[in-house]
Amino acid sequence: MNHLLTTEGLSREVLEGLLTDAQEFAEVLERPIPKVPALRGRTVATMFFEPSTRTKMSFDKAAKALSADTVAFSASTSSLSKGESLKDTALTVHAMGIDLMIVRHGATGAPWRLAEWLDIPIVNAGDGAHQHPTQALLDCLTITQRFGSLEGLKIAIVGDIRHSRVARSDMFAMSTLGADVTLVGPPTLLPVHMDGWPARTSTDLDAAIEDADVVYLLRVQTERGGGSVFPSLPEYTKRYGMTNDRFSRLKAKAVVLHPGPMNRGVEISHDVADDERALVLQQVSNGVAARMAVLFALLGGDSDV
Ligand code: CP
Repeated sequence: MNHLLTTEGLSREVLEGLLTDAQEFAEVLERPIPKVPALRGRTVATMFFEPSTRTKMSFDKAAKALSADTVAFSASTSSLSKGESLKDTALTVHAMGIDLMIVRHGATGAPWRLAEWLDIPIVNAGDGAHQHPTQALLDCLTITQRFGSLEGLKIAIVGDIRHSRVARSDMFAMSTLGADVTLVGPPTLLPVHMDGWPARTSTDLDAAIEDADVVYLLRVQTERGGGSVFPSLPEYTKRYGMTNDRFSRLKAKAVVLHPGPMNRGVEISHDVADDERALVLQQVSNGVAARMAVLFALLGGDSDV
């Protein structure tokens, strides 16, 4: 693996290898000194052209836990406002002596362009509505910790599928790992084209959650137009929200995941968000371990965990 840009086409062997390493790193993070020297002397750059709390901070923590140095680019305080292009920005940061670049960008495909321009590994931390592969890894790690594997699990991904890079990355990774994935949402928030996608669609959440082992809730992406295609948020909640009533109808061992940030009271009720079967904070913790596994794989760490 030279880059991590997408989960589409990643083999089961690669995914399982990353998950095995991520689980080992999760155990490292439980130690009194949660750090290994694997990437000492390496420098990792985080390049976020869109806002982030979880992804940006957990990549930073993951790099430091592997003893790498980090440099951070922040779009709002950068020379972008003076007209510098994406390519010149990337070449400039690269010239400082960077071994790997992590990029989040609003434009689909931006990480692929960086991979063409630079001779270092690129990690996609989210490109438009397209892909968010490390989110999928941390989600699969969280589900594996709960159920042992994803093989045969019924997973409903619910909400603004059309604008969700998380839904795309999760769908490909989860199905490759043996899960049966259903994408659930109002017709206006389901994808228009799904040729070759390893999932079915449904507009009926109540039917989809009846036998689901995992219900994965998504935020309505108002910044990408997701809020303008249904009558109102209360109407959305009534039909597609994880209300207390719907939660009470899930299978006893079913769990709820959410990539964050959550809109409590819209796609997830306050009570469900705080329930022990909502694994949202476990997902966040696993984000550090999953990203350690990715950095380790791409930079060829030379030390035992
Ligand atoms: N899940 C996720 O990508 O969160 P952030 O936007 O806070 O990074």
